[in-house]
Amino acid sequence: MAKEVKTIGVLTSGGDSPGMNAAIRGVVRTGLFRNLKVKGIRRGFAGLLNEEIIDMNRKSVSEIIQHGGTILYTARCEEFKELEYQKKAADICRKHGIDGVVVIGGDGSYRGAGALSEQGINTVGLPGTIDLDIACTDYTIGFDTAVNTAMEAIDKIRDTSTSHERCSIIEVMGRNAGYIALWCGIANGAEDVLLPEYYQGDEQQIIDHILANKKKKKSHHIIINAEGIGHSTSMSRRIEAATGIETRATILGYMQRGGMPTCRDRVFASVMGSMAADLLADGKTNRVVCYRDGKFVDMDLTEALNMKKEFWEEQYKICKIL
Ligand code: ADP
Ligand code: F6P
Repeated sequence: MAKEVKTIGVLTSGGDSPGMNAAIRGVVRTGLFRNLKVKGIRRGFAGLLNEEIIDMNRKSVSEIIQHGGTILYTARCEEFKELEYQKKAADICRKHGIDGVVVIGGDGSYRGAGALSEQGINTVGLPGTIDLDIACTDYTIGFDTAVNTAMEAIDKIRDTSTSHERCSIIEVMGRNAGYIALWCGIANGAEDVLLPEYYQGDEQQIIDHILANKKKKKSHHIIINAEGIGHSTSMSRRIEAATGIETRATILGYMQRGGMPTCRDRVFASVMGSMAADLLADGKTNRVVCYRDGKFVDMDLTEALNMKKEFWEEQYKICKIL
């Protein structure tokens, strides 16, 4: 029989992403609506181990939906991978009367949530990462904002690349996944897109493409390089030496993780946060909330972690054709 849940906690873990605040707000306000007590756990699993636990009310989440970052702060916590600390965290939850926890983060954070549920604390995971690299869901909180931020920055770099008739390599985030790079490749009309899922390190092919475009009087050459490939600066030096065309590298970096969340990230994160609180209120555990085939659904966390994400081969083909 599902245990009765009276108090839930919410934490953010791993890299932050725009929309996490909207998700926190969704959890807190739905939890209160379901007559639960709601606590905020600061600094992810590290904060849980340090008992950084605060009471949350409707007002605690006022004026946050429009802001990037996370009001609960986030952290990475290596020791949480060890059983000893997972047991300690569960004891701390019990000490504070916390029956269930919503964990907002990437698949590393999901593993932490799974570990906590094994120790008897109900958990629900929400996909919070700009990387879009979680297999069970077609949407992750923050991807939309991050990819729009990257797209706008690349448009600006394109302007100056054209004026100077340069080649530009722009490196976007995504850890080992190429989703931000692929989306920008299509949205920015890049000449080349280097994705960790496909790139074999053939720089000569890029050089030949640049030279062929130069012959066609193209006034710039935009290469979007994914963080998972990296080495944009050394690549730009080699390309400049081989082509004789001035080449600059720009690493967009952390600007992609911040800023005002888009409408889509605010709405989707709010819905997912609300669903997570409902799942806990209904006594569910070891679940994740996902967006699949155009619907918000929940599924088993362990099953979700065993899924493999298929890369969008079709979109990559389209990107190359365009
Ligand atoms: P993300 O959640 O964005 O994938 P990380 O992979 O850095 O980011 O994971 C965030 C945190 O989740 C880690 O610092 C750790 O506290 C916890 N975590 C990651 N992997 C595990 C694991 N195998 N077992 C328990 N906790 C984990
Ligand atoms: O997972 C989000 C992300 O921004 C990745 O794109 C990137 O590889 C990583 O986090 C950077 O992490 P950190 O904040 O530890 O430098």
